[in-house]
Amino acid sequence: MNVLVVGGAGYIGSHCVRQLILAGHRPVVLDNLVFGHRGAVAPDVPFYQAELGDEEAVGRILAQERPEVVMHFAAFAYVGESVTDPLKYYFNNSVATLHLLRTMLRHGVTRFVFSSTCATYGVPESLPIVETLPQAPINPYGQTKLDVENALKALAHANGVSFAAFRYFNAAGAAEDGSIGEDHDPETHLIPLAIEAAIGKGPPLRLFGTDYPTPDGTCLRDYVHVDDLSRAHIAVFDALAKPGAALFYNLGTGTPTSVRQVLAAVEKVTGKPVLVVESPRRPGDPPALYADASKARSELGWRVQYPDIDSIVASAWRWHQTHPDGYGDRPKS
Ligand SMILES: NC(=O)c1ccc[n+]([C@@H]2O[C@H](COP(=O)([O-])OP(=O)(O)OC[C@H]3O[C@@H](n4cnc5c(N)ncnc54)[C@H](O)[C@@H]3O)[C@@H](O)[C@H]2O)c1
Repeated sequence: MNVLVVGGAGYIGSHCVRQLILAGHRPVVLDNLVFGHRGAVAPDVPFYQAELGDEEAVGRILAQERPEVVMHFAAFAYVGESVTDPLKYYFNNSVATLHLLRTMLRHGVTRFVFSSTCATYGVPESLPIVETLPQAPINPYGQTKLDVENALKALAHANGVSFAAFRYFNAAGAAEDGSIGEDHDPETHLIPLAIEAAIGKGPPLRLFGTDYPTPDGTCLRDYVHVDDLSRAHIAVFDALAKPGAALFYNLGTGTPTSVRQVLAAVEKVTGKPVLVVESPRRPGDPPALYADASKARSELGWRVQYPDIDSIVASAWRWHQTHPDGYGDRPKS
């Protein structure tokens, strides 16, 4: 299938592009490269540097490439920044997505796969998190994703758009061969920060909160490998053939892993100690977030190939070893 991958030069999108090729599909990438990397996308994949909210540019790409499915990974995703600069998030994550959807409808493209987030649940009422729990985001980032989910529901009803919104937990890891991986600037994700602390390339890791009501006092999260995430996006294609299909899935391994357990995995895999500075809790960090992903398993036949934190960290470590400066395409701040 022809698939337009919006945000395909970013971390998760670039892994999905590779999985699409492996599964025999034809990805085309649209990215403005505000955070993405040209080097994350193979040179033979059609690449358009464009703004997803630019209806004219996106219209030309749709007319040219005739995708049957649009996958939408592009967004800003720094939770703290979304609190201090909410308009930036509303415009890029919500408004631009509405422009993208309008352009799709004008060109008769009605199948859509959307990167949502567990942040739409806010502080969950119960654990593990099932898709039917109330969604009550506690920051503008989560709210912008929920706004798009709600718009999609309405478009499924009114316009026959079929969509899957995948609520990711913590995306982690890198391609098995170490050829592509995570290169965010600034980096806020635990595994790359812990690896950089271990090899002395970054500062000691700030561990936010050691007094949570969890077994070792640190937060519990659900780390899911980027290639596992990507495979779910492809597994849903058949279900999108039904006009008006409105699908929501949690994507996580279901295993709660504490910050200290992640650090232990990084130490084991790298063979180096992670220097840590224990710091107070950060406001807005729930003690535990982990998924019940049984719906994706039963409806999509989704199975994770990286069920444990050690194998996820090992894949990230391969990327860091082979690409110590990431893609090396911009100076690090
Ligand atoms: N990384 C995670 O753990 C995680 C968890 C939950 C949800 N998500 C969601 O998954 C998606 C992908 O996350 P990621 O970590 O790969 O992020 P990323 O920043 O690495 O990738 C996003 C890509 O979108 C591009 N982009 C942003 N705004 C754009 C615009 N206006 N026009 C064109 N391109 C634009 C960026 O250049 C970048 O390449 C995001 O929507 C994010 O909110 C990520």
